[in-house]
Amino acid sequence: MTPILNLKSAILIFSWLVAFSAWLTACSPSKTNDTKFQQYYVQGEQLYVKHCSNCHQKDGAGLGRVFPPLNTSDYMEKNLEDVLCQMKYGKKGPINVNGVAYNMEMKGIISLTELEIAEIATYIYNTWSHQKGLIEIPTVEGALKKCGPE
Ligand code: HEC
Repeated sequence: MTPILNLKSAILIFSWLVAFSAWLTACSPSKTNDTKFQQYYVQGEQLYVKHCSNCHQKDGAGLGRVFPPLNTSDYMEKNLEDVLCQMKYGKKGPINVNGVAYNMEMKGIISLTELEIAEIATYIYNTWSHQKGLIEIPTVEGALKKCGPE
């Protein structure tokens, strides 16, 4: 091999590396740089597994006609404040999720703090099909002011 060929292959390898790292960056959402988002998301996942996944499952798929899905849910998309409220105060009565009617009861977890609700919301609203970004404490505060134990 002549030196010039080595240079060419070095350039080729280098440009592959550049392309590969650009591809990696494009695939990881920019929000991964946000440490607060990261903290909420990681904490939220643990809280979700502890408090919610028994019913809604780890993959958010729910369970038949008993526990509605979270992985894809038009209800979640349309009712953020309501979802924040129901984590603490529960939910009963008829609801419609992706065109399927549910009429069950979800018990609230009254001991959840506003921070924990924000963390769980950040997790469930940025996993599976959802991309709502960070959900902060003031949003939770605002929602909780409008609801209470049923
Ligand atoms: C004991 C089972 C159970 C647990 C634990 C539970 N849920 Fe639910 N969840 C339900 C049921 C049942 C409904 C439907 C309520 C109705 O029919 O009105 C529901 C409804 C929902 C909905 C609205 C419907 C939808 O699919 O979008 C969301 C969002 C939700 N739950 C999130 C959570 C989160 C977050 C937690 C943990 C903090 C949690 N749930 C814990 C049983 C549960």
